[in-house]
Amino acid sequence: MNRDLSLLQPYPFEKLTALKAQVSPPEDLEHIALSIGEPKHPAPEFVTEVLTDNLARLSNYPTTKGIPELSEAIAGWCERRFKLQAGSLDPKTNVIPVNGTREAIFSFTQAAIDRRPDTLVVSPNPFYQIYEGATYLAGAEPYYLNCNADNNFVPDYDAVPESVWQRCQLLYLCSPSNPTGAVTGMQTLKKLIALSDKYDFIIASDECYSEIYFDEAKPPVGLLQACAELGRDDYKNCVVMHSLSKRSNLPGLRSGFVAGDAALLVPYLQYRTYHGSAMPIQHQLASIAAWNDEEHVLENRSQYRRKFDAVVEILSPVMDVQHPDASFYLWAATPIADDLFAQGLFASQNVTVLPGSYVSREAEGILPGAGRVRMALVATLEECVEAAHRIRNYVESL
Ligand SMILES: Cc1ncc(COP(=O)(O)O)c(C=O)c1O
Repeated sequence: MNRDLSLLQPYPFEKLTALKAQVSPPEDLEHIALSIGEPKHPAPEFVTEVLTDNLARLSNYPTTKGIPELSEAIAGWCERRFKLQAGSLDPKTNVIPVNGTREAIFSFTQAAIDRRPDTLVVSPNPFYQIYEGATYLAGAEPYYLNCNADNNFVPDYDAVPESVWQRCQLLYLCSPSNPTGAVTGMQTLKKLIALSDKYDFIIASDECYSEIYFDEAKPPVGLLQACAELGRDDYKNCVVMHSLSKRSNLPGLRSGFVAGDAALLVPYLQYRTYHGSAMPIQHQLASIAAWNDEEHVLENRSQYRRKFDAVVEILSPVMDVQHPDASFYLWAATPIADDLFAQGLFASQNVTVLPGSYVSREAEGILPGAGRVRMALVATLEECVEAAHRIRNYVESL
């Protein structure tokens, strides 16, 4: 078998299951999971209707490129959302639909890396684990940039040695970040584009949480938007990854896209024809309906806003919890080691949170997730509030 498979780490949830198996939760309290980042708000009915109305399309093979109407809807959404110059994102050459960003991160990395020895894929730390696994399976080495309170959870790119940029073929951004909720700002994006010109690396920006934010007047900026501000209409060396999973509460639709530099998307499309993950046509039609509507996304955000306001108010007197810039995660500091905190919370309150050390790696002598837990506020408002009270009780009992 592929020797690189041995480099893959257990998934954070496997570690969490083992941690929880050592204790028993109280039987009189219902379990509340704040550990898994799976949206729980209902899927929009107008989207599921399109899906079911088109089940006859099951008898057609979908193409890798998808139907033109989907790429057109995606390009239109990107133009509106990220203030791109009209017509600059060509649906034919600058957009590829994918079966969710997870698959896109993995497959794009395989297509992008040229397997020169000593190649680095640079990513934030803590991070979404697929960046790491995709890197190893592409024959490259991950290089982690620590994100902590000192740098407002955005890597200090100025401190990255030149020798790292010289070996970097692919830089992953995660903005808004899982797990910290931090957004990478416009100036930083522009600086990174200049670095990618200088050292000739690709920037892949995972923006799958871009539509979960709190201030309607301040949507998170994106990498294509930074290109547009710089007048780079060819989006050279830049791609973004977006998804309907969080934006539209459709994690089961497996629908997203990669958009950006056409010169990168030609070989990526070729890779995908072999990779074999074309989106079913009825999913494409449903996706068009979702990308063309913002009403349900506004409603989705207002539900998250209510939950964050309530939970932060309950927890902030006893814990260091900051309202994130965006995303549906709280990245809370723990008064004891994060794994012990998660285990003790489960044992005493039947609430599950994810230890931060499980989603980070030691780099430069620091494990940036240590002493933090990730809480995903995906359950109902009532459940999130109940969980917050139980977490508060637990912290007060320590
Ligand atoms: C940072 C990040 N990227 C990508 C994904 C994958 O999402 P999907 O494949 O549903 O688009 C997730 C899912 O949790 C995530 O947290």
